[in-house]
Amino acid sequence: MIAAGNRDQAAARGGGVQAPAYDLEAAARALDQRLERRAVGAKREAVLAQRAEQQLASRRADRDDARRPDMCRGRQGDEAAHRRAAQEHGHVVRQPRRDRRDVLERAAVERAVARAVPPLVEDDRRQAGGGAAPREVAMILLAGAGAVQHDDAAARRRRGKHELVGEAVVPVAHPTAYSPIRMPATRTQLSQAYPIGSRLDVEGRLQIGGCDAVELAREFGTPAYIVSEDDLRARAQTFVEAFRARTKDFDVLFASKAFPCTAVFRVLAQEGIACDVASGGELALALRGGFDPARIYLHGNAKSVDELRFARESGVGHIVVDNAGEIDRLEAVAGDGPPQPVLLRVTPDVRGRTNDKISTGQADSKFGVSMADAPAVISRLQDSAQLDLVGLHMHIGSQILELEPFRLAIEAIAPLGDFGTYNLGGGLGVAYTADQEPPRIADYVAAKVDTVNRVLGPGKRILDEPGRALVANSTVTLYTVQSVKRNVSTWVAVDGGMSDNLRPMLYGSVYEAQVADRFGGDTHARLTGKHCESGDVIVRDVQLDDPRVGDVIVTPATGAYGHALANNYNGVPRPPVIFVAQGDARVVVRRETYDDLFARDVD
Ligand SMILES: Cc1ncc(COP(=O)(O)O)c(C=O)c1O
Repeated sequence: MIAAGNRDQAAARGGGVQAPAYDLEAAARALDQRLERRAVGAKREAVLAQRAEQQLASRRADRDDARRPDMCRGRQGDEAAHRRAAQEHGHVVRQPRRDRRDVLERAAVERAVARAVPPLVEDDRRQAGGGAAPREVAMILLAGAGAVQHDDAAARRRRGKHELVGEAVVPVAHPTAYSPIRMPATRTQLSQAYPIGSRLDVEGRLQIGGCDAVELAREFGTPAYIVSEDDLRARAQTFVEAFRARTKDFDVLFASKAFPCTAVFRVLAQEGIACDVASGGELALALRGGFDPARIYLHGNAKSVDELRFARESGVGHIVVDNAGEIDRLEAVAGDGPPQPVLLRVTPDVRGRTNDKISTGQADSKFGVSMADAPAVISRLQDSAQLDLVGLHMHIGSQILELEPFRLAIEAIAPLGDFGTYNLGGGLGVAYTADQEPPRIADYVAAKVDTVNRVLGPGKRILDEPGRALVANSTVTLYTVQSVKRNVSTWVAVDGGMSDNLRPMLYGSVYEAQVADRFGGDTHARLTGKHCESGDVIVRDVQLDDPRVGDVIVTPATGAYGHALANNYNGVPRPPVIFVAQGDARVVVRRETYDDLFARDVD
């Protein structure tokens, strides 16, 4: 494949892309035929046999790279992560980067060599600018390990380009200038469950935010949540841009229950997102994360007076009234001060296809006021001197992969009256596995905004509250295999489980998993946690590449309700949260220690 940069430079010179002097077409055809004749396993053998040679070439490529820091390899060995003091996790891990010029200059020579190496190179995720056509993958395949011209996230962000989020990754045939090296069958495409900008390098090792996943595991210990900051920002920007393209009066609220972490709040606040909190604790985190209280919305079906008071004293912009009983208490808290702006949460009696435990729009719900009761509660609020009813709120459920229920819910609440503001909740589903194809953010926003305009009338202030769709795919969890046991099944047990990802146990949620430096494989296994429950199974059916003790395992799409639901079952310290971006890694939440487990003891 050709690097986009090369093609651009050639085009800029006005001469189009220069054909190489030798017959690469013929060479590539010969290679294709050779590869087709070989079994996949044989190709892999060939790659492994070449690896030493590649590593030599790689070291040469690295020689002049002044930016390459020490890789922290083995800095703390395999010492158990929970024994490592939090402050020692401040070191930065950077994926080795090659000097772009060096790579390009040597490309002509090494292209030919590359053809002799069945590349275990995986390409980048499919990307597109601003929700338009998919952008071409930018890479040059070279003989040296890591000698890949990769148009990285930093460059994309400088140009203000976004990857297309919320779209399944489909292998694309990329037009190439100097010769089609079609990737052989060893190629594995990263699923869309991984953060934007994730890739496998020439050695088949996972890179997240420009950092090597195995090195991250060595440096920070496991389990660990690895968050791609670029991914977080890109999705926030995509939501905001999608709304901006369709309406003037809107706000995008981060449903912070999905990932209540100060650093995540901070990033999303910087991206211009507002915030939904569902408790006093989430409110405290949101304030600490830098959200303007005026742009915070307090939810909850069982708010305490203390929480209402805290919200009021903090200057929270809006409180979402969940039930009639709450009104008296809120009026008392508001007292003689200026009226407190509120929204009323209603239950439209519309449900999307999702797990019962995360469905909230049905009539038989613990949240909100029923359609039958809503008119009386609306009148009560409109008569209140202390409260100012500005509009309605609803949230029909989570992980919804079709758009129709969102439209139906808006139609359902139309008879309740004409309001200036409608908070339409969150609920957009995400891809946890390669076969899940959620609607694109732009389509989700279009469905909601267009339905509001059509059914409720133009000029409404539209609020939306995505949680999962903002943060789920930003994050992967890294584990280390502690044991491999074979009986009826193959049980691959890692050092985390239901204490860091409760979703499979709560909802039967399905995840992908891979060995972080050996994607693919055909060992059918059950990926289990370390907890004293037979139900502590992270992925029930997974294919791994000959999993062994010490392997680093990655599960993508753990950003939503992973850290949020983490717990200390079996006295397991909760994992750290590590931000990665453009080759740098930093701890934003340290790993818990055993001392933390005693921290609340008073006797
Ligand atoms: C009131 C409310 N808004 C928004 C959300 C966010 O939902 P999701 O994470 O599915 O976008 C939730 C999730 O429980 C919610 O209860």
